[in-house]
This record gives sequence, structure tokens and C-alpha cells, in this order.
Amino acid sequence: MTAETKIDNMTDPMTEEQPQSGIMDRNVALEVVRVTEAAALAASKLVGMGDKEAADQAAVDAMRHAFNTLHMRGRVVIGEGERDEAPMLYIGEEVGDGKGPKIDIALDPLEGTEITAKGGNNAMAVVALTDEGGFLNAPDTYMDKIAIGPGVDPNILDLDAPIGDVLAKLAKEKGGRVDELMVCILDRPRHEHIMKAVREAGARITLIGDGDVSAVIATTDPETGIDLYVGQGGAPEGVLAAAALQCTGGAMLGRLVFRNDEEKARAEKWGITDLDMIYKTDDLAKGDNVMFAATGVTDGTMLRGVRRFAGGAKTSSLVMRSKSGTIRRIEATHDFTRKTWIKSI
Ligand code: FBP
Repeated sequence: MTAETKIDNMTDPMTEEQPQSGIMDRNVALEVVRVTEAAALAASKLVGMGDKEAADQAAVDAMRHAFNTLHMRGRVVIGEGERDEAPMLYIGEEVGDGKGPKIDIALDPLEGTEITAKGGNNAMAVVALTDEGGFLNAPDTYMDKIAIGPGVDPNILDLDAPIGDVLAKLAKEKGGRVDELMVCILDRPRHEHIMKAVREAGARITLIGDGDVSAVIATTDPETGIDLYVGQGGAPEGVLAAAALQCTGGAMLGRLVFRNDEEKARAEKWGITDLDMIYKTDDLAKGDNVMFAATGVTDGTMLRGVRRFAGGAKTSSLVMRSKSGTIRRIEATHDFTRKTWIKSI
């Protein structure tokens, strides 16, 4: 994402392709931002309150409510968990008004529950949509991930090569030196060997506490200064990040990580037979018709958090489509005195 495209990059409505009935059309992208706005507004009430479960629940409730105002036959593919563990927005749940196009949905009502509880940076509400069958049914396990922004040969990505080799190739692709590169990594003990290898290679590191969907997207925006994301995070978040990359450009690799047989069984239940498979961006989220929307809960590298004031709030969102490459920024002012359902969130 360049600085120019960050400014409301509206595609000419006369030349952009027109909707076809039964298939997810472009108007859905503008509708779905209501869903991320609702979740972000609800979670924003609990910023810094030290209760990540309550913040997550508020976001889930609001997102679920907002989804059902949309004209679609939506099916949750990446959601809050399996039916027996998540009462709402569980995998397989149908959302929308039950009419209109069949749409597969990947969602995270609150990406960054801990961030929200602590009032930190980069918490957001996220939804990605695609035509039926377009997302990997990722189980709730970890995933090894490595991601770069657009304009770089995706073939330099490698999950098994020494990270120093990948960085040397990336520096060459960018026409610079390794010591100019910034690598983003989740601050976890499991990543200490990666941090050590990155430092030995001479690149710099930004450690983040949480929120690797936003970290992957950050590689696509030169303004963030982040050149590469690497490390192990949630597999469902990997699908959401891939959906965003399909819209912004950029590429990632992902490989499921299993800590026990129960996690393997979970993956097999979702139809995954090759447990060692390395997924490319297209395997995680097919690129032809993906839409991605995110609304900031707290301030972050790409989005401003919710600003609350007497009787209302302001939200900042990003809406993107893979088909057109359009990236829209939507700033909205919400009047709680007029939106009756919002009063309760
Ligand atoms: P939640 O919002 O569900 O708390 O996830 C935050 C997150 O940081 C993700 O962005 C990331 O993929 C995952 O958790 C990493 O997991 P862990 O905290 O177990 O290292």
C-alpha cells in the first residue's frame, strides 16, 4: 500500500465491473465495514479495563448482531471456534439475512484481546469475505508464517532456509543492505532463535506483543518501515492476513504447527490431509474475489483507534478488494442517540 493509495483510492464507478447476481459483488465490501465498525465500537468501551474476555465478548456480540443486517447467505469458515466451544460466530454458523450471494467469511471480532485489555496498540476488528470455498479451513492451531509486501519476488520466501539467507535476498530485491531491513516478530520465548539469527544477519527488529494480522499487513505499507514478518502465530490469523495480502499485494507462506495429536485430529477433521504442507497466499485465501475490512479499536500502524465522546464515537476503517485492488479508508462518526442498537454497546 503506497501513501497515495492510502488516500481514499476510489475506482471509477463507470469502469469497475458490475455486480452479478448470486456472486459476491463489490457493494458487499462497503456493507461489511458496518460489521467491523460495530465490533470495534463495542470493544472500545473496554480498552484498558484489564478484561480481555469481556472485550472479546462485546466485540463478538456486536459483530454477530451487525452481520444479520446484511443481505447475504454467509457461512463462517474462520470464526470464534467450533460450535461446542463458541456460542456465537462459530465455524459453520450461518449469518446474514439468508438471501443473496453465498459468501464464506473469515472473522476476528477482536484481533488483539490482550492489547485491548492493556490499552496497547494495534487492536482491530477484522472480517474477510470470499466466494464459497475460497478460504482454507484452518484449525485453531499455530502456524509458522513469513510475509513480505508487494514488489518483491515471492520466491525469496522460505520457511526452512536460514533467516539470514532470506534477508540477504530481500535486501537485494529492495536494492539495499540487510542492515536497512526491519523485521517484525511476536515477542515470545519461542522466537528467541529467530531473533538471534536476524540480529546476527544484521537486520533490525520490531517486537510486538500481539496482533500478527496487522503485522503482516504492515509489510505492505512502506510508511510502517516493516520489511518482513516472521514467526509463529495463530493459523486462523494466517488466513485473515493472506486475505488482506490478496488485496494489497505481497505474499506469505504458512505451515500448520501441531503441539499434540488432538490438534492434528482437529486439522484432519477440517479436511487437511497433508499436515506438513506449506501454504502459499493463494492456498490460504484464493485471490480472485476477496474482500477485507478492518476497523481500529486502539491506535495502530495503519488505523486509528475508536475515539469516544459524549453521545457518539469516531471510527477509522480500511476496506479492500482483491479484484479491483481498491483500498478505501472510511472515517465514520457515529451518533449513539440515533442508533438505538448501538446504545447498548
Ligand atoms: P487474540 O486477539 O485472539 O488474543 O490473538 C492475538 C495474537 O497475538 C494473534 O495476533 C497471534 O496470531 C496470536 O495471538 C499469537 O498467539 P500467542 O499469544 O499464543 O503467542
